Amino acid sequence: MLSYRHGFHAGNHADVLKHAMLVFVTRYLQHKESPLLFLDTHAGAGLYDLRTPEAEKTWEYRDGIARLMPHAATAPALLADYLALVKSFNSGDGLTMYPGSPALITAMMREQDRAHFIELHPTDEPRLAELMRRNRRVRVEKADGLRGLIAAVPPPEKRALCLIDPSYEIKTDYALVMAALARAWKKFPGGIYLLWYPVIDRPRVHAMEVALRAAGIRKTYRAELCMTPDTPERGMTGSGLFIVNPPFTLPEAAASGLPWLAETLGASGPATADWLIPE
Ligand SMILES: C[S@@+](CC[C@H](N)C(=O)[O-])C[C@H]1O[C@@H](n2cnc3c(N)ncnc32)[C@H](O)[C@@H]1O
Repeated sequence: MLSYRHGFHAGNHADVLKHAMLVFVTRYLQHKESPLLFLDTHAGAGLYDLRTPEAEKTWEYRDGIARLMPHAATAPALLADYLALVKSFNSGDGLTMYPGSPALITAMMREQDRAHFIELHPTDEPRLAELMRRNRRVRVEKADGLRGLIAAVPPPEKRALCLIDPSYEIKTDYALVMAALARAWKKFPGGIYLLWYPVIDRPRVHAMEVALRAAGIRKTYRAELCMTPDTPERGMTGSGLFIVNPPFTLPEAAASGLPWLAETLGASGPATADWLIPE
């Protein structure tokens, strides 16, 4: 069952948090000249036109990226490069295109870097493949992202940034994601893993934290931003990321960047940036 389509959600508050982190971590990793693999296990369609019926149906980007762009020039380090990249996909002060993780990654890749994008949706995978058709350093694969993650590590480069961004359509996905991360980390403990999760039901987030610890995974930072306080009602109130092996610069950037993001988005829920598992 693949009913989730990212086009309905592109540029929302969850994308903003996830993509700001993706760009921040990438920029840090690229201080080193050695080649880097980007592995995006649930890649989506790649690039989103905010004027399509999907985006216009939900207008989610209006409460996300659209609130940030007017403040791009004064954004803190956590978000500055990300917002500049989003601007580069648009002309002037307009906001009609939103880059998903594959578009952001390819915009940041250097000659020596490589990307592997995995997507399973029968509509979005061909779109992504078409978008990346001319890029010889990119492989688009139609496969299961979690299996693909385990198979792809450790990469020959010995350096990889793995974005794990599932749609969590069924409840069992949470446990499957944690099991896959545990296996990937055992094969490749030096990898950098960005694992995104939704805050829909707080006990599920706690279960993910327990699973991380139980797997013996070390050095994990957490950044979470909720638009509203936790509630027993249905729906996503916020989202977060577990960042395994983060840059040493991240805690300081998150300490100032997350409050700025919460305020600029008008969030009233908890915002957390802390070490879930220290080194
Ligand atoms: C949250 S979206 C990804 C967004 C994208 N990473 C970005 O940041 O722009 C999740 C994607 O996972 C895809 N998906 C769902 N199940 C999958 C699976 N088992 N393997 C790979 N992709 C899957 C969905 O079709 C959807 O496009």
